[in-house]
Amino acid sequence: MTVHGIARVPGDKSISHRALMFAALADGSSRIRGLLDAEDVRSTAAALGALGVPIEWRGGEARIGGRGRRGLRAPGTDLDCGNSGTTTRLLAGIVAGHPFAARFVGDESLARRPMKRIKEPLEAMGATVELENGDGLPMTVRGNVLHPIVWRTPTASAQTKSAILLAALVAGVRAEVQEPAPSRDHTERLLTAMGVTVRTVDCAVTMEPAERLHPLDITVPGDPSSAAFLIALALLAEHAEVELREVGLNARRTGFFEVARQMGATLSWDADHDVGGEPVGTVRARSSHLRGIMVDGEDVPGMIDELVVLACLATRAEGETIVSGAQELRVKESDRIAAVVQNLRTLGADAEELTDGFAVRGSQRPLRGLVRTYGDHRVAMAFGVLAKLPGNDIRIDDPACVAVSYPDFWNDLDRLSR
Ligand code: S3P
Repeated sequence: MTVHGIARVPGDKSISHRALMFAALADGSSRIRGLLDAEDVRSTAAALGALGVPIEWRGGEARIGGRGRRGLRAPGTDLDCGNSGTTTRLLAGIVAGHPFAARFVGDESLARRPMKRIKEPLEAMGATVELENGDGLPMTVRGNVLHPIVWRTPTASAQTKSAILLAALVAGVRAEVQEPAPSRDHTERLLTAMGVTVRTVDCAVTMEPAERLHPLDITVPGDPSSAAFLIALALLAEHAEVELREVGLNARRTGFFEVARQMGATLSWDADHDVGGEPVGTVRARSSHLRGIMVDGEDVPGMIDELVVLACLATRAEGETIVSGAQELRVKESDRIAAVVQNLRTLGADAEELTDGFAVRGSQRPLRGLVRTYGDHRVAMAFGVLAKLPGNDIRIDDPACVAVSYPDFWNDLDRLSR
């Protein structure tokens, strides 16, 4: 098999959610090209529709009629967030600043994900958040007049940080969020591009009250987290060379690229332009001889969504790879520590679960068996890469779950490998 070609990965999921939501709060009409057309972003668009936002989305371009900073209306139905944590947590912040209530529901996986992390700061600001089942969905957010806030989060989470900033934005009050490590900063960058004053010093973000948001006219860059799967295939296959164009290269998202390079990957990335305050450019990857690596808490936020594919890379690296300080993986779309280790062991790889990560020892032995995705798109794609490698005989129980973030994944994988 050879792996060769030029590809474009779909639009960045985090930026697509934000572009839709922030455009809904702008004064005037926004135009967004390259929006990720996948289930998670469709959940955001549908929820915004229920909140009174006109969205026309056709052929890779969306037009959003902004309702103004506090102009959404009470929904007539529950907001169904599907599988999407970003939809739920960011929209909860937006609803908290409005004078109405909304009830959030989602699929089985989303219903298990922790929401206390947003309940606490939103209630400290003056909203009410009711969790019917302890910590997960269904969740009812009752908006109110909110107070300014200074909040220290116990875990680095861009979704929690963004929920607080968005509640403050809608309410017209100041907010400061301090994190233990810097999480992705797409909210800060996009709000700045729309005219809001946001300052970042080390791990603290301060946002000043803003009267209005300017509408957007942007092209969403490719998602570096989706790119990671195609890169992993190029690194692991023999005779491989892949070029990915128009990929978002925000330094808070390129942790996987950095770690892969430390493992010995022939991998380069060059930003050559900016979109909405985000660096964008080309990534090139070739077949590589990889060595195991240690990843600890500090490296985790910059590659949180790539740790599953890193585990798969590690099965072919020389020596041991140990990831620690990654307990957040337990509360993603699945418990990704358990999912990764159980699947690797089923396939015959040498892997061990840690409370806050995993250890994988690489070898050249063929991997065989059925992967259980637990409905988690990133588990399906990471093991899909291993399934492509000659000698392995791997089936995936639910390949369709990639529709959450990368509906064309299997086609792109086939097109690059011959
Ligand atoms: C995201 C933040 C991260 C990430 C998720 C998307 C975002 O989650 O894992 O896929 O768009 O803000 P946390 O905020 O829970 O770390």
